[in-house]
Amino acid sequence: MTKQIAILGSTGSIGRNALRVIDALGPDYSVIALSAHSNVELLAEQARLYKPKFVAVTNPDYAGQLCEFLGDLDVEVLTGPNGLVEAAEIEDVDIVLTAVVGAAGLPAVFAAARCGKQLAVANKEPLVVAGELLMSEARNNGGVILPVDSEHSAIFQAMQSGTREEVNKIILTASGGPFRGTTAEDIQNVTLEQALAHPVWNMGPKITVDSATMMNKAFEIIEARWLFDMPVDKIEVLIHPESIIHSLVEFVDGSVVAQLGEPDMCIPIQYALTYPQRVTGIAKRLRLDKISTLTFEKPDLETFRALRLAYEVVRSGGTAAAVFNAANEAAVEEFLAGGIEFVTIVELIEYCLNKHDVKTSASVEELLEADAWARKEVKFKVQKSIKA
Ligand SMILES: NC(=O)c1ccc[n+]([C@@H]2O[C@H](COP(=O)([O-])OP(=O)(O)OC[C@H]3O[C@@H](n4cnc5c(N)ncnc54)[C@H](OP(=O)(O)O)[C@@H]3O)[C@@H](O)[C@H]2O)c1
Repeated sequence: MTKQIAILGSTGSIGRNALRVIDALGPDYSVIALSAHSNVELLAEQARLYKPKFVAVTNPDYAGQLCEFLGDLDVEVLTGPNGLVEAAEIEDVDIVLTAVVGAAGLPAVFAAARCGKQLAVANKEPLVVAGELLMSEARNNGGVILPVDSEHSAIFQAMQSGTREEVNKIILTASGGPFRGTTAEDIQNVTLEQALAHPVWNMGPKITVDSATMMNKAFEIIEARWLFDMPVDKIEVLIHPESIIHSLVEFVDGSVVAQLGEPDMCIPIQYALTYPQRVTGIAKRLRLDKISTLTFEKPDLETFRALRLAYEVVRSGGTAAAVFNAANEAAVEEFLAGGIEFVTIVELIEYCLNKHDVKTSASVEELLEADAWARKEVKFKVQKSIKA
């Protein structure tokens, strides 16, 4: 039986890699839905090539243009943020690959979980914001959530060496990003260009900035907490600049199981699509004999305060993670637009977390309210500092 895949965010870095993986997997896998936010040229190109039954464009301003591009194709165009939800709910979809950026993907991820779909999750922000609710939604409806993030895919694979009770701790590896080895003083004046120059991974702009602040690793701590139902004090971060060991699991007997591979997102994307099978893939083979050394160091929690904040956010619970994520999204947007300095990103996040009254046991609506509040706070604070 052919597996039908909906790729939410097909025009992004993960989405484009997913299409390469699907090309190589052959006729057992086909694309039933694709989505973009505004890059309708690329979406139309992908639609001509993959002939999905549905395409979704979440920015309604581009819907007309997309319909024009696709006028001669037999394809249904879904529009607006709800178009993404509709794509996730399509009855014939077997696997929903979520590769949208940010909390904007949250309603669609919930919809897929509610429909009991197999979810291949790259879009980590919904798990950060609402991990507990999302995991139980999938569990209660017979859905499966498989990680695409390379670190969580590695942990997922390593976990298969024992039971959850036999796990002593999870060790998340991190490349350290472009500013590894710098001090808090050094990063005061870094430029956008420097922040976007990741030494290992070629990714979308938002996650690349998140890697530079180490907010990405902070999110991954929270993501691991929910994906693997692991107390946060059993999750450690280890800097490993070569990005060959994608993460490790230490078991109670002292054995440490790791997953290694070339730093290539096609490996975890493919595993999330073919799980529980492994098939020949397109990723370059790892040649350890060509790599003379693998190095490790402790993270610098003074320069990269985001990591420390992640533990505090998980301990606070409730709406804290929604504020943590939304303040970051709003601040990164400002930084990418040239409105604020690099160091201001984490300062704004700390400001919002300090000002926020955490609501514990929050519903999805309350999480979304906290998200909207934090975005407004960041905007207001940035405008105030520009006027001052
Ligand atoms: N890139 C990686 O290697 C990597 C690794 C691990 C995890 N991830 C995670 O995977 C997700 C995607 O990352 P990426 O690097 O692929 O991002 P990206 O290259 O920026 O692509 C983002 C995708 O989401 C769409 N999009 C943007 N804003 C949207 C909105 N408001 N509503 C719906 N769709 C929207 C984009 O459409 P347009 O093209 O039209 O703007 C594009 O298809 C992120 O959550 C990231 O943290 C990425």
